Amino acid sequence: MAEIIDGKAVGEEVVAKVRKLTAELVASGSAAPGLAVVIVGEDPASQVYVASKSKKAKECGFHSVQHTLPAETSESDLVELIGNLNADPKINGILVQLPLPAHIDSGRIIQTISPEKDVDGFHFINVGKLGTGELDTAFVPCTPAGSMLLIERVRGKDLSGLSAVVVGRSNIVGKPMANLLLAANCTVTIAHSRTRDLAALARTADILVAAVGRPEMVKGDWVKPGATVVDVGINRIPAPEKGEGKTRLVGDVEFTGAEKVAGAITPVPGGVGPMTIAMLMANTLASASLAAGRPRPEF
Ligand SMILES: NC(=O)c1ccc[n+]([C@@H]2O[C@H](COP(=O)([O-])OP(=O)(O)OC[C@H]3O[C@@H](n4cnc5c(N)ncnc54)[C@H](OP(=O)(O)O)[C@@H]3O)[C@@H](O)[C@H]2O)c1
Repeated sequence: MAEIIDGKAVGEEVVAKVRKLTAELVASGSAAPGLAVVIVGEDPASQVYVASKSKKAKECGFHSVQHTLPAETSESDLVELIGNLNADPKINGILVQLPLPAHIDSGRIIQTISPEKDVDGFHFINVGKLGTGELDTAFVPCTPAGSMLLIERVRGKDLSGLSAVVVGRSNIVGKPMANLLLAANCTVTIAHSRTRDLAALARTADILVAAVGRPEMVKGDWVKPGATVVDVGINRIPAPEKGEGKTRLVGDVEFTGAEKVAGAITPVPGGVGPMTIAMLMANTLASASLAAGRPRPEF
């Protein structure tokens, strides 16, 4: 049976370290790291995410600000707010919660965030730094950064000689994940909806990352014996066994099958999910440390 990688515990360790280093930063005379979270409209799921990010930022000892704007906010008003946050020395990280209302061009909005405060790692400058291996100064998107920490827990930092298959090529998860694995010396293949014989390809992977958004698509017999399996997917499916109308969360990997073959596997929930918010805190602390002329903390 595979080792279950406890993302909740690793996420808590990251947050505890952020809290400790924040206290040290403040004790040395610097201001507390500042995180501004911007939400436009009333999407209920986004509101839950934003509230938990703001709460976690306070828990870390950050200066935490939330800007809640009405759904009809114009793109130019949002650009103006981001301009103000870019210029505000108390703010080190700016996060614009996606999706934005349809009349706002989210791609354009993301590019107005100063790259030094782009703690989501979506600005072209940070994407380019990750792509060219400038990891010392890049902000890496939080979900793949957190997934990488979980892989390191099992395999160490140098993945030389290992083959990795990343299923999914989104800009938020798949592509940055592949770049991180490449930077750690893996031989990386990115698979997607046009890939032929995905099962056979997946079976070649020492490290298999699923970021697809299809419940339990990756079957147990797709997993190479001993592989490290990272399940990024979060899918809500009906769970009639829990009662009428009830649901449960599953990943993109069929856990019960994969657990029997893998060497280590992340569960859903409790795997990659808790790492995402932890890495947002780590990125914000990194931004504040760099702004204060201090070295970037390592996680
Ligand atoms: N844990 C977290 O905090 C966290 C954060 C972000 C996302 N997620 C979850 O991770 C999953 C992926 O998110 P995402 O934003 O990357 O999704 P996305 O933008 O929808 O991308 C999905 C990717 O999967 C590929 N794909 C779809 N069907 C496929 C198939 N049958 N075979 C092979 N590849 C297939 C798509 O290929 P094409 O490009 O060819 O269409 C695409 O590249 C979702 O479940 C999401 O909820 C979790």
